[in-house]
Amino acid sequence: MAIVFNENKRTFSLHTAKTTYQLKIGNLNYVKHLYYGTTIEDEDLIYLIRRYDRGFSGNPYDSLKERTFSLDAQPQEFTTQQQGDFRINSIEVQNGDGSFSFNGRYVSHKMYSGPFTLNGLPTAYATEDDTVDTLELVIEDAITKVQVTLLYSVFEEKDIIMRAARVHNGGTETIRLKRIMSINMDYMNGKNLDIVSLPGRYGQERQVERQPLTHHVYKVRSGRGISSHQQNPFIALVDRSANELYGSCYGFALMYSGSFIAEVELDQYDQCRLVMGVNDRLFSYAVAPGEDFDTPAVLMTYTHKGLSRMSNNYHHFIRHNLNRSKFVREVRRPVLINTWEAAFFDFDDKKIVEIAKAAKNMGVEMIVMDDGWFGKRDDDNSSLGDWHVNEKKIKCGLPALVQQINDLGLKFGIWFEPEMVSEDSDLYRAHPDWAMEIPGRRAVRSRNQLALDVSRREVQDYLIESINKILDSANIYYVKWDINRAITDLWSNVLPSDRQGEVSHRYVLGLYRIMDGIIKTHPDIMFEGCAGGGGRFDTAMLTYFVQYWSSDNTKPLDNLKLHYGSSFIYPVSTMGAHVSAASPMVPIETKAAIAMCGTFGYELDATKLDKDQIESCRKMSELYHKYYDLNFYGDYYRLANPFEQVNLVAWECLARDKSEALVTVITVNLTVNGPQEYIKCRGLDPKKKYRIEGDGNNLVASGMALMHAGIPIPREIPEFTAFLYHLKAVE
Ligand code: DGJ
Repeated sequence: MAIVFNENKRTFSLHTAKTTYQLKIGNLNYVKHLYYGTTIEDEDLIYLIRRYDRGFSGNPYDSLKERTFSLDAQPQEFTTQQQGDFRINSIEVQNGDGSFSFNGRYVSHKMYSGPFTLNGLPTAYATEDDTVDTLELVIEDAITKVQVTLLYSVFEEKDIIMRAARVHNGGTETIRLKRIMSINMDYMNGKNLDIVSLPGRYGQERQVERQPLTHHVYKVRSGRGISSHQQNPFIALVDRSANELYGSCYGFALMYSGSFIAEVELDQYDQCRLVMGVNDRLFSYAVAPGEDFDTPAVLMTYTHKGLSRMSNNYHHFIRHNLNRSKFVREVRRPVLINTWEAAFFDFDDKKIVEIAKAAKNMGVEMIVMDDGWFGKRDDDNSSLGDWHVNEKKIKCGLPALVQQINDLGLKFGIWFEPEMVSEDSDLYRAHPDWAMEIPGRRAVRSRNQLALDVSRREVQDYLIESINKILDSANIYYVKWDINRAITDLWSNVLPSDRQGEVSHRYVLGLYRIMDGIIKTHPDIMFEGCAGGGGRFDTAMLTYFVQYWSSDNTKPLDNLKLHYGSSFIYPVSTMGAHVSAASPMVPIETKAAIAMCGTFGYELDATKLDKDQIESCRKMSELYHKYYDLNFYGDYYRLANPFEQVNLVAWECLARDKSEALVTVITVNLTVNGPQEYIKCRGLDPKKKYRIEGDGNNLVASGMALMHAGIPIPREIPEFTAFLYHLKAVE
């Protein structure tokens, strides 16, 4: 058991291979948080909590005038409401009598093997090699009988703890949740912590920001109905001195694809509290007597070995424990070409076949027909929702087109945007009430389209049926699932007016049900997510999609930053990245080396490339396969930060047995007659000798030398040169 319950001390110690998380049923049955960090024994760490008379912080009534017992100054697993703790809170519930009060105390717990699951929300699963144990601990308000079950699944070997909360209304009156967080994480002293997050914007997703905590409340949030380009549902709290290789790092990733919030407060006593969950803005959820409400899960990790280890903990976990698709590990993903930047809406069946023929010589193995193949769609004004083939464009019909592609030896992929509807569509004409629009107001248009109310069962069923019909009509190998607007005008015509605060969350639950009905029923199809690029790139989506289109920005140098930022949590194997015609001054080889820091493919009109370019692409497609295992399954190290004034950007993918590595170096700013530059490797076996193949001229050096002295990077070379150093351990 990875979880040890000490009955005398009433402590729970949750052990992963390298960490311990400890909580305790404390005085008055409040559940205290005692520790999260490097592994310790099961000793009771209650001695860490010192109590003082904290003026203006109040004492629960039954602490019997004990002025040192203040919840405002004690670390807790979940917060109370109106019990004298004035910090950011994990629950805000309006009871049947109108009061806002919750005084949760321990009532029971149970432990079992295997991870918890949630109603309608994705969670991580255990592989055959995992030891996973779960603790469910129930706290209850004695007056209202509202219970919150705190869920902890400990993935021992992976150093990951998955958490969530389940609210159960055990009372006799309906309650309204105004705010319900998935986790509460208290630090007794947080004054030396920095917050790391991944803000961005359309075309520039997941840039990295790091700042020291001061005595404020920090909010990282999306209110856009999607996890968003602007913020990602991931943050880390790291020691001010932490760097890539050393220092304490705590990671938190919310498995949720809608509006979310993460808040961090450094309080008056330098205590730090983090909460994370569904965004409470425009949120109010009624829970009737006997009903439950499940929050989305959070994946937490801790290491004292710096940011690289934190990232690799996530990478390893995401690669194994989120997605059961055979395309995660068993079946190699093909080199694809996507028609979007080649043709936009301007294509027909002949053009698709022409691109496929030309692309075949580039080592392409699959063509993806992007937006524009359905209804009567020639631009973004029409047809979303009409999921039937536009026979004016695809004159031969879909099965015959797919057959032609298959006859060329290529696989075929197709694009959908299921959650959306165009006003100019048969679907909207038949069911205008299926669109999200507040009665008496006209809905906000975005990219000339409206969002469907996917919280409705009949809308879900329509989408499952109409999309599955297309998928089952031809030999389709791949689907790109897109969404191209944020969600506004929250309203559902099937909910009463006092329950409209549920729509945003119900939308997300509806979406997961649709994805279950389409993706989980087609295990032989490879699904890639997309939201106008990476606007919904999150760990919940990765339980459905093996990869996610990183950005609509295919400029290679911008992608250096995007990959660097994304790599804080997302592995190479999940980051959709293509070679495109953007940035013509950058050589194809360099574009390809950068796209190999993702899932690799092309996004250009293959019929317009000359022979030399086709040949360069063919060689690069070969390299994609050669380095597939290293890139897709290796440990990833950021070697140079593109957000700093660097001359080189570099990263390393290292086989987990350290026998092999690929170090990629891109020269971004080599001044004439400048100093010699070196790139230092990481994670190698110091005692092993490595031969550097590829661009390394078979140089042989020890792991120790390569890590501490580095590889010299040639100078006086064309701009934006890429070097691929393939390190192989010499027997
Ligand atoms: C946005 C995506 O990110 C693009 O790749 C493309 O699929 C367009 N949508 C199509 O409308």
